[in-house]
Amino acid sequence: MVLYFSATGNTEFIAQEIARRLDDVCINLLDRVKTDDHSELHSDKPFIICAPVYVCEMPRFMSKYLKNQIFTGHKDIYFIFTSGGYCGISGQLAKSMFRKKKMNYRGHAEFKMPRNYAANDSYPMLEKSEVENRILKSYEKLTSVVADIKAGKKLTARHIFLFETIITVPFNPVWCKYKLLAKDFYSTDKGHRIRNYYTK
Ligand SMILES: Cc1cc2nc3c(=O)[nH]c(=O)nc-3n(C[C@H](O)[C@H](O)[C@H](O)COP(=O)(O)O)c2cc1C
Repeated sequence: MVLYFSATGNTEFIAQEIARRLDDVCINLLDRVKTDDHSELHSDKPFIICAPVYVCEMPRFMSKYLKNQIFTGHKDIYFIFTSGGYCGISGQLAKSMFRKKKMNYRGHAEFKMPRNYAANDSYPMLEKSEVENRILKSYEKLTSVVADIKAGKKLTARHIFLFETIITVPFNPVWCKYKLLAKDFYSTDKGHRIRNYYTK
């Protein structure tokens, strides 16, 4: 069973493609998260959870949701993260959460996708050619990731250093509180305002 959250489609694309190739079901978690629906999720195949990376980890509303979710059936769980290039400690946190839930964490894979962090001008949107390049490379990477899952192999990703965990755990809530501000992104009759500039 493939489960995902996606704000702008990157993770949805990867999740649907994995489900299609594994001939498995693919469920968007958004409605369940919104309605706080924690009814049992049962799968006879491994669970595969796909998430974008928000400030070096999976979105906190999503980890909060997963922590309280009941999974029955297969005990294996894989994670797939999409990011703008740095997944931080996402894998480490997912591993620790699902070990506590007595499930077999089977590793995670990272996909470098187009950035979508538009409400702040620190991370400008990418050129069309780079967007296409990233999607194409991710599409190619899917072949080996799906083959490993099919074979029941563990997914391997970059080693996460201790200092990354030490920095990220306190950094994430501070950044989210002071830098991820909805007031930086709003709409007027002139167009959309993203901090210092308008787009029509
Ligand atoms: C609030 C926010 C925080 C983000 N933080 C990171 C980050 O720490 N590292 C990174 O590489 N990309 C970061 N991104 C980029 C997204 O992880 C990336 O574009 C992802 O593929 C978006 O997936 P989606 O289209 O499924 O929502 C962030 C995006 C948003 C909106």
